[in-house]
This record gives sequence, structure tokens and C-alpha cells, in this order.
Amino acid sequence: MKVLVLNGPNLDRLDIRDSSIYGDMSYSQLVSHIENGAKQNGFVADVRQSADEATLVGWLHEAADTNTPVIFNPAAFTHYSYALRDAAELVKAPLIEVHLSNPLSREEFRHTSVISGVANGTIGGFGPNSYILALIALKALIGK
Ligand code: DQA
Repeated sequence: MKVLVLNGPNLDRLDIRDSSIYGDMSYSQLVSHIENGAKQNGFVADVRQSADEATLVGWLHEAADTNTPVIFNPAAFTHYSYALRDAAELVKAPLIEVHLSNPLSREEFRHTSVISGVANGTIGGFGPNSYILALIALKALIGK
């Protein structure tokens, strides 16, 4: 089964972001990590990244129209994008919010997620393994 793994702004620049927060995997290494984890859990991951809110909205519409499960790291959009929240709400297959870091242990503006209320659950703070834990949760939700 296919899973759409959607990543928001600046996640493509993990190589130059603060490694004490985001770890030392580059974005391309993260993509391979997710693809391998997906395979091990019986999924094929279609991993995408965009800094453009409209593009992310379009990909969520695609997931809604094709009933495809989603693992979603909205990055900074997590904290304020009502457009992404409304689009995520349209996805009827499971949608899991993930974060590399634990936003709740960081600055106060990161303590709010406008996405969590329309996600099946949220996993954060485990670095690249947040995505693997989300795949395991997804597998259980889908009942494979
Ligand atoms: C993030 C956390 C967000 O607060 C931040 O804006 C990001 C990445 C994470 O994966 O830890 O860009 O979503």
C-alpha cells in the first residue's frame, strides 16, 4: 500500500539546520530512511517536500481523492496554517503528524499545532525515527 509522506518548508535543508535539534541526517538520507522503513512495514512511501503551502494543500487533496494514508511533517506551517488544517481534514484515510524534534520542549510558538486536531495522532522528538514510528502506527491503524 502507498503512503504519502509530506514535508514542509526547510526540511530539505537539514544539512544546514541546527544538528543539535534536527540530528545529522541530510534530507536525502532521511528520504532513504523513510523509504526503507516503509518497505519493512509493507508500504511504498512517496516522499515529497515543499516550502509552498498551496503545493502541500494540493498534495493533501490528492490524498483525499485517492484515499491514500498520509504521514505529514508540516514544519513551521504546523503552528499557523489553517489552510493545511482544512486540507488535512479532508483526508479520510489515516493521517499522522510527525516532527523530528519535540516542539513541546522548544519555543512557546511551537507548542501550538493547528494540525493535531485533525490528525489521528502526533509523533515528535525521535528524530528520523518519528517517521518510522508513524509507519508502525499506520500499519496498526490500517490493520495489516
Ligand atoms: C519541525 C518542528 C517545527 O517547529 C519546525 O518549524 C520545523 C521542523 C520538526 O520536524 O521538528 O521546521 O516540524
